[in-house]
Amino acid sequence: MLNRRESIRQIFKRSVVGSSALALPTMWLPGSGQNGNALADELVKTAHVGEGPFYPDKLPLDTDNDLLIVNESITRAVGEITYLSGRVLSRSGSPVRNAFVEIWQCDSSGAYIHSGSANRENKDVNFQGYGRFLTDSKGRYSFRTIKPVAYPGRTPHIHFGVSKNGKRVFTTQMLIKDHPGNAKDGLFRQLRTKPERDSIQVAFDPIKDSKIGELEANFDIVLGMTPAELDNGTFGGGLGTPDRLRSRG
Ligand SMILES: [Fe+2]
Repeated sequence: MLNRRESIRQIFKRSVVGSSALALPTMWLPGSGQNGNALADELVKTAHVGEGPFYPDKLPLDTDNDLLIVNESITRAVGEITYLSGRVLSRSGSPVRNAFVEIWQCDSSGAYIHSGSANRENKDVNFQGYGRFLTDSKGRYSFRTIKPVAYPGRTPHIHFGVSKNGKRVFTTQMLIKDHPGNAKDGLFRQLRTKPERDSIQVAFDPIKDSKIGELEANFDIVLGMTPAELDNGTFGGGLGTPDRLRSRG
């Protein structure tokens, strides 16, 4: 049987090469954390956090799930390498398959893929800054990226958008569990309850056998909708395009 941490990297490599995660072995069960228990009760819904101003205003040509390598570059982005994975679930725990998961975050110097970003002059050209992944039959997604860093006014975070059938259905921001900046962060402080706050805080753990200090993070996203609602066919429009950008084509 595969060592779980080993398998995360193997699966990631496979998913980068393949078109989706269909080849994932069934033995791998991401999200065995707080949301992974087979509870009869409903799971805690992941707290909504707004999209913010830095969704890429021009998407990169490379949009795969490896944010550390742009196109065929041989130089990797600067930052702490993180294997980020999880599942998209309904509140009853059913996997949401074919969910279009987008992430975007600033590079190690605080610059986004956005013309209005601060620190653009110091941008890490090797950091993709944005990635997308279509969940498999078990609702799973995976990315390789960097551990997020703070920029002026914000605690470290990774933005998430989830779309189904071409319609954005959920947006949030994932924070580093117990990071000292969280308690001072204006958006985080808008979440009033502990379950809400816990739902977006994720541990970044060292991968035990990694010689280069790689990390893993697991973030399950629990939507307040059922798979049936998400598959009801009433949604149309662009692939994951936020409403405010759709008019620009
Ligand atoms: Fe941000």
